[in-house]
Amino acid sequence: MNEFARALQEGLGRQPRAISPKWFYDEAGSVLFERICELPEYYPTRVEFALLQRHAGEIADLIGPGLDLVEFGAGATRKVKILLSALDSPARFVPVDISGEHLLGAVERLRDDYAGLIVEPLVADFTADMVLPAAIGPRAGFFPGSSIGNFEPAMARTLLQRFDRLLDGGWLLIGVDLVKDPQRLHAAYNDAAGVTAAFNLNLWVRANREADADFVINDWMHSAFYNPPLHRIEMHLVSRLRQRVSIGHEVIEFAEGDSVHTENSYKYTVEGFQELARQAGWQPRAVWTDAQRCFSMHLLRGGPAR
Ligand code: AVJ
Repeated sequence: MNEFARALQEGLGRQPRAISPKWFYDEAGSVLFERICELPEYYPTRVEFALLQRHAGEIADLIGPGLDLVEFGAGATRKVKILLSALDSPARFVPVDISGEHLLGAVERLRDDYAGLIVEPLVADFTADMVLPAAIGPRAGFFPGSSIGNFEPAMARTLLQRFDRLLDGGWLLIGVDLVKDPQRLHAAYNDAAGVTAAFNLNLWVRANREADADFVINDWMHSAFYNPPLHRIEMHLVSRLRQRVSIGHEVIEFAEGDSVHTENSYKYTVEGFQELARQAGWQPRAVWTDAQRCFSMHLLRGGPAR
């Protein structure tokens, strides 16, 4: 049995039923996510992109020349290109991603665009233990898109601690989505064109193909809502009727309205995120937000090498 099939059986076998959002990103899921980023309702990508464009020069001045830049979860290269273009002769770019095909295709094209830049892609799961190639310059990490929001705050802290160790005393540039009007948040995960719904439901399409499951896609609904006390968007797949689904040799029963929790997307205040970063050993050095305070980009400095 493959790792996804195992995770699915395990996640549907317990209560509450849940599966990690990292399984969204098969080939079709990655394409759907790129379409989400272009939706009028989905502001994070556009706002972060604009912040990067506006402040890349300032960021480059702060973090200095000859960097060994590591991107955690490198899908599209649009954002890092802005950074690479602004940096003063970066020494190396190490994009890290769990999906090999996606990563290697995107990265080949980068080599042609930045002559002299060493590009060393790494297929690895940065949420598990991961080893970076020996440093060839001061390290800087790049973690855009508010991917940190997928983690429970305690896990996010652990992940930031791990980044601090990996980047030994270097920098971290991280994008973080901000708490805001729940209606605006709701719209971003319930787009009119239904792309987010298709992205969520694609998990069952993948399960049918890769985990020997027999989900009837039309028997499920996309549900996404903001949970104010927990400062997070939750996504679920909800059963429209009483049904049985088999996954390999197991059969799982769902009542009408039963749900599978597929994603959390935590939102932070600027101060709340800075506090979390401090607890993980980082020192907040700069933060940039848009005028409407939709999204934030934080520049953090690591603790002394240890
Ligand atoms: C990639 C985790 C940042 O939480 O906004 C977008 C994923 N899910 N629409 C997010 C996502 C539904 C996205 N992150």
